[in-house]
Amino acid sequence: MRHLLDTKTLSREDALRILDVAEDMADAQQREVKKLPALRGKTVVNLFFEDSTRTRISFEAAAKRLSADVINFSAKGSSVSKGESLQDTAQTLQAMGADAVVIRHGASGAPRTLATSGWITGSVLNAGDGTHEHPTQALLDAYSMRKRRYGADSRGRDLEGFRVTVVGDILHSRVARSNVWLLNTLGAEVTLVGPPTLIPQDVTAWPARILFDLDEAIADGPDALMMLRIQLERMNAAYFPNEREYTRTWGLDADRLAALPADSIVMHPGPMNRGLEISADAADSPRSTVLEQVANGVSVRMAALYLLLAGERNEKEDAR
Ligand code: NCD
Repeated sequence: MRHLLDTKTLSREDALRILDVAEDMADAQQREVKKLPALRGKTVVNLFFEDSTRTRISFEAAAKRLSADVINFSAKGSSVSKGESLQDTAQTLQAMGADAVVIRHGASGAPRTLATSGWITGSVLNAGDGTHEHPTQALLDAYSMRKRRYGADSRGRDLEGFRVTVVGDILHSRVARSNVWLLNTLGAEVTLVGPPTLIPQDVTAWPARILFDLDEAIADGPDALMMLRIQLERMNAAYFPNEREYTRTWGLDADRLAALPADSIVMHPGPMNRGLEISADAADSPRSTVLEQVANGVSVRMAALYLLLAGERNEKEDAR
């Protein structure tokens, strides 16, 4: 593995490898000294063209805990806002010796462009591109599901037969896309549910079942219910009548929470619109994995950085 661009082309073997190494990273995070020397001397650049809180600080924490040097580059306040192109930005990073570039970009496909352009020689990690993919989010979601299901004993296991229902704004969600592909690779069964206006046209080609009634989806007893944020910033039209109507039809409230099987979990990638797609009762309930997802994100990103960067070093040493 040289880059982590999507989950659609990620093999089962590589996915499980990342999840298993993330378990080791999580164990190391329990120690008093959290820092590992694995990426000492390596430089990781966080290149964020879109706003982000948790993903950016999660990658930053992950790189620092592996002793890499981290450079944070956000488009706001940089020459990108003066019109500098992705090519010029990338070539600047290359000249500074970036070993890995973590990129978030509003255009679907920007990370692949960067990885295949020849502008940089380092690894590229996709931290969310347009409505396309967000592979580390899906990996941390899978990690969180596996952990809740198998606890300490989860190494080596996939999600065979695990039933996951993803709710809401599927159309604009790179999280949904990355989850659909990864969960399918890991043997889980995926159901997508939302208003017809927020279900993409090409969904028939996805390995997922589509429903248009949240109560029916809940009565079906999923193991995990993943609520998605309504992405108002990507909406240029009215996809639903108003917020109250959305909450009534598609929101996870106390009644719907109570209708879920006792052991099913509630997930959300954040940031949450509390009171819109998810009520405070649901977000803060013991079944919610929202904060576990954030904590697990650091371990999963440590694993991805380690496998892409230290793996390369080991290969070079082996070749000598
Ligand atoms: C997601 C994203 O940016 O795609 N957030 C995240 O990475 N935690 C989901 C979202 O913005 O709704």
